Amino acid sequence: MPEMIKQKQEGIFLPFAPTEYNVVGEEAIAVHWKEEELIQPKEEFIRQANMTDVGIYERFSEENYPECFKEYGDMLSWDRYWTETLDTSNPPFFKWFVGGKLNACYNCVDRHLQKYGNKAAIIFAPEPEDESYQFITYRELHRRVNEFAALLLDMGVKENDVVTFHLPMVAELPISMLACARIGAIHSEVFGGFSSKAVAERADDAESKVLITMDSYYRSGKLIDHKARADESVNLCKETKIEKVLIWERYPGKYSSSAPLVEGRDYLINDVLENYRGRRVKPLSKPAEDTLFLMYTSGTTARPKGCQHSIGGYLSYVAGTSKYLFDIHPEDTYWCLADIGWITGHSYIVYGPLSIAATSIIFEGTPTYPDAGRSWRIAEDLHVNIFHTSPTMIRMIRKEGPDEPGKYDYHFKLMCTVGEPIEPEVWRWYYDKVGKGEATIIDTWWQTENGGVIGSNLPALRAMKPGSCGIGMPGIYPIIFDEDGNEIEKGSGRAGNICIKRPWPGSFQTIWKDPDRYVETYYSKYSKLGSKDYRDYYYFAGDGAVQAADGSFRILGRIDDVINVAGHRLGTKEIESSSGSNEEVAESAVVAKKDPIKGTVVDLYVALKPGFEPSKELEAKIRNKVGTDIGPIARPSSVHIVPDMPKTRSGKIMRRVLNAISNQRECGDVTSLANPEIVEVIKNQVQG
Ligand code: WTA
Repeated sequence: MPEMIKQKQEGIFLPFAPTEYNVVGEEAIAVHWKEEELIQPKEEFIRQANMTDVGIYERFSEENYPECFKEYGDMLSWDRYWTETLDTSNPPFFKWFVGGKLNACYNCVDRHLQKYGNKAAIIFAPEPEDESYQFITYRELHRRVNEFAALLLDMGVKENDVVTFHLPMVAELPISMLACARIGAIHSEVFGGFSSKAVAERADDAESKVLITMDSYYRSGKLIDHKARADESVNLCKETKIEKVLIWERYPGKYSSSAPLVEGRDYLINDVLENYRGRRVKPLSKPAEDTLFLMYTSGTTARPKGCQHSIGGYLSYVAGTSKYLFDIHPEDTYWCLADIGWITGHSYIVYGPLSIAATSIIFEGTPTYPDAGRSWRIAEDLHVNIFHTSPTMIRMIRKEGPDEPGKYDYHFKLMCTVGEPIEPEVWRWYYDKVGKGEATIIDTWWQTENGGVIGSNLPALRAMKPGSCGIGMPGIYPIIFDEDGNEIEKGSGRAGNICIKRPWPGSFQTIWKDPDRYVETYYSKYSKLGSKDYRDYYYFAGDGAVQAADGSFRILGRIDDVINVAGHRLGTKEIESSSGSNEEVAESAVVAKKDPIKGTVVDLYVALKPGFEPSKELEAKIRNKVGTDIGPIARPSSVHIVPDMPKTRSGKIMRRVLNAISNQRECGDVTSLANPEIVEVIKNQVQG
């Protein structure tokens, strides 16, 4: 029996909707679903959903690959239509929509003017509640993007230059992104909470000459002075010279930073913009395979990698997934709480939603400040009906105000979660309290490298299953391998390494200036390197996963030296290298410790050089150094200064043992260690 028909009978696929809508009885389902019950979306949701045709999975099946992705490509407006959907002549460097030309800014702004010009594209929600929301219509966005694009051209920004941003959550961030896209420049936004050193490293790698920043922004009631960090970044750059620093003002005309302006280098954007009022810049028609932006992310070495995303492939993939998965209609009000400094914000606050004429909210603050009702007041005020956040945020708002959602008058049709595995119990609170039992939930699995969601259920087509992200998105064929490259059968209960079988348009093109690292990191483990047949290449995601008999995947977390703290991706090597830069430190080892709110937190083990003594002050110094080198989110929750690290006979630190100690688990067999006696010592010290 064909797989899909079988699954339909088992109740995983919903029967056809909306006309043939008909819920399968729960008992019938329970027979097949011992681990978690299935929850069906409400009929009302299905009736209005963008994608209700279960045939989409057939349309995007391997037999119809890669032409199936034409459906996403056709959601965009092209200056010149492509001649080849997928060019696989040089695997694993894949090219989508070859021969096609387009402009990303045109697709996100200009083409909506006719029909939606007077509708809000972006709603900026400032943190202080006495400041009004700012409604930026598509027409207004068009004006502001054009003026800024004209300014950038006069500042000497040219096609394919990389402009580095260090911007917080303000409307000026997407305006800057779209202005770059308009003139064919590449943007590289560094998360606003990252340190000046992190900005300098990324600007160096991208050889940026222009940095765009902001004077200040609000965070938890404080106006944070941000511009001073730009001065530090410029000084910390080693390989590039930042010639111009462009500064947005939180209050235009009222410079709110104590850092002085440097003559000839620093420009207050709002002052200079006076000369560009009413200016228009023609969107540059770009080859589909040119680069839209870089997004640096942590890897297994101390050096972050610049994931290079294309224009045509990326934009079509985020347009398609915004429409079918996030179910965004132009008349919806969509709010994603991620920060635009991460990939989720790029794809699902800016490019995806705007490419399909959505109204997308940008919130400056945190959801629990000044109190746990803050998010729900925004939802009520703005009639938000699609709400997107991360498990950490959900756990945080539950802790701060478990009954707050019920006090506000809002109704979500869809809620999304991303970034970490979500515990079924947290999922249920999200469903019952935040969604008031009305909203459909999608758990969306993907990574910076992927451009858009690759694992999730289309919300009107498959039932929800708490704790599982669902199946591969249309056209995405996940597969789980064991260490030896054997496929692990679904339903076997065994975990393995999740990989993706075929390339997809949203996938990054390469690592900026480091194609070898791209091949090595993502395609060496299970691919036949050197083969000219693209089917010999498997994208290695670096996540562990299990697949239930129904096909749903449960993502277990990273299997490499990357950890997820509160949904923020950090490299353990980056943290260890920062710790190691203290003169007292001989060796450092980071492990991920389970945390009831943040999912995981950083536990740092340190051994000192001879002649140095452990102290509380030294622990604080090491912790703060990580905070300044990388950013406050990377600061270890504890620093354990230990007499020695547990080591193998070849001198490798046994992180597995440290991990067990941090997480109060059995250490297992330690007899093969070079210094097994140290394990008890560390255990006593850490577990008290
Ligand atoms: C994790 C964020 C479980 C995973 C979009 C991945 C998830 C890493 C989920 C990428 C999910 C993301 N369930 N785990 N729904 N989504 N992850 O690059 O470990 O910041 O490899 O991209 O987050 O983090 P990144």
